[in-house]
Amino acid sequence: MILPVRKAVIPAAGLGTRFLPATKAVPKEMLPIVDTPTIQLVIDEAARAGIRDVIVVNGRGKGAIEDHFDHAYELEHTLRSRGKNAEADALAGITRLARIISVRQHQPLGLGHAVLCAREAVGDEPFAVLLGDDLIADQGRPGIGQLIDIHAATGAGVVSIMEVPEGKEHMYGIVAGDWADGRLRIREMVEKPRPGTAPSRWAIVGRYVLPPAIWPMLASTKAGHGGEIQLTDGLKGLAASSEGLYGAVIDGERHDAGDRLGYLRANLAYALARADLREPVMEMMREVLEQHSGKVGG
Ligand code: UTP
Repeated sequence: MILPVRKAVIPAAGLGTRFLPATKAVPKEMLPIVDTPTIQLVIDEAARAGIRDVIVVNGRGKGAIEDHFDHAYELEHTLRSRGKNAEADALAGITRLARIISVRQHQPLGLGHAVLCAREAVGDEPFAVLLGDDLIADQGRPGIGQLIDIHAATGAGVVSIMEVPEGKEHMYGIVAGDWADGRLRIREMVEKPRPGTAPSRWAIVGRYVLPPAIWPMLASTKAGHGGEIQLTDGLKGLAASSEGLYGAVIDGERHDAGDRLGYLRANLAYALARADLREPVMEMMREVLEQHSGKVGG
């Protein structure tokens, strides 16, 4: 019997070195896209896919994430007393998005280790993993929901994959295998391959649905690339199992908000997608481009 996916894990305990100094005290998952923390957009995606329990793996600055998803009675009360009921309702809605369970990763020992920290909270059932700094703007079925559909059909683990430009393979976990029914049966997996050695240009990105069989595989994984416990190393075990592991391309626009350029791009894309901001943002971009064109290095 294939169990439904009811829980999601969001690892948010990385150091966020690419975003220092902003991430000195605030986790990068709390940095806003226009006016909403990236992690709220990610939890909204999970909630729309039917997930009720979200396990956030926290590191430093965890208070900010916990407070964000907790009730803010004083703030709500003050807003209502000033007639700002819509704003107060929106704040109250954040706490209803999901039931948040917080677990701690005491040291940033890698993504695989962060996921393993959620083992007890997840237990013996399939679960989703959504990276808190990876955004997927969808037009219908949420990104993680698309992977859940494949899991419901196969009972196997599923990871989201994306074709990356030639020469960028060394920045990702790269997979290769056989395509059938619009999905890749993964046979080979390499974490951040050395330039020129990647078996394909298909990279694992930000969304996973994993069966509980991953737990012992992660628990026995030794520190690999960069001295960290990589999720990819645990995934290799699933790919070699009889159930297998699939890769699927999610329909939606993906943004790597954990990277400075990707973050700026996500802000622009989300602002342009909003009716109240589209025109003023276009106008602002034209002005900024006009003022700054030709000035770089000058
Ligand atoms: P990244 O490699 O993008 O995050 O990890 P990072 O290490 O924080 O970023 P940089 O490279 O230093 O700028 C992917 C995801 O895994 C989480 C991160 O929070 C991010 O959401 N992560 C990573 C953990 O929770 N724990 C870790 O030990 C490592």
